[in-house]
Amino acid sequence: IREKPDEASSYVADYIAHRIKEFKPTRERPFVLGLPTGGSPISVYQLLVEKYKAGEISFENVVTFNMDEYVGIPRDHPQSYHTFMWRHFFSHVNIPPTNVHILNGNAPDLAAECDAYEAAIVAAGGIDLFLAGIGSDGHIAFNEPGSSLASRTRVKTLAYDTVLDNARFFDDDIAQVPRLALTVGVQTILDAREVVAIVVGARKAVALRECLESSVNHMWTLSALQLHRHATIVADEDATLEL
Ligand code: GLP
Repeated sequence: IREKPDEASSYVADYIAHRIKEFKPTRERPFVLGLPTGGSPISVYQLLVEKYKAGEISFENVVTFNMDEYVGIPRDHPQSYHTFMWRHFFSHVNIPPTNVHILNGNAPDLAAECDAYEAAIVAAGGIDLFLAGIGSDGHIAFNEPGSSLASRTRVKTLAYDTVLDNARFFDDDIAQVPRLALTVGVQTILDAREVVAIVVGARKAVALRECLESSVNHMWTLSALQLHRHATIVADEDATLEL
């Protein structure tokens, strides 16, 4: 727990940088990083970019897999997760573009796209560290309430609460918010060697309580991290108000 959101972000950025450096990734055995979108990780990305520019860290041998992507908006749409990731992170560091993996929400066969994504994660050696945020309904990636805890990458219908939450990115117009997404599953995340979730703001306080203090259950999918051997929640004080 850190007092302010900035301090939580800086803890996470330092931690990720430390993990990558300690790993000493090579082309043959890159560091495989799972990544989220959303407001919460933006300052983590900014801090990682600063570390890169200061020569503290290199992303040359880092391979990334993003958690999720909307279905039905073009890849270059200003609110696609593809655009988000390049705008906030990838364009500013030395990661080879071929090392970046983001689900294609416009693939002609979405089920095949999801299966290929799971296979690509395995081929890369599995995810070393999955960074996550959470939705205010406790979802991790787009694993909405009711998702199987054994789920893998698939198409998911967004919960109405999520559509409302994300309308802020679509001119506050819910009609513009996609209703479907591709998302890694809860089990895909649990398979990572390590998971770090950043949870900031009072808007997440109920979700954090349900995920940490209730039993593991499919209505608050972040609660699945209780089953992981190496999971860390980094929260600011506001997010802990209900604990
Ligand atoms: C979306 C993403 C999640 C993210 C959530 C929270 O639903 N699919 O991965 O955790 O937004 O976003 P924010 O950090 O903006 O609250």
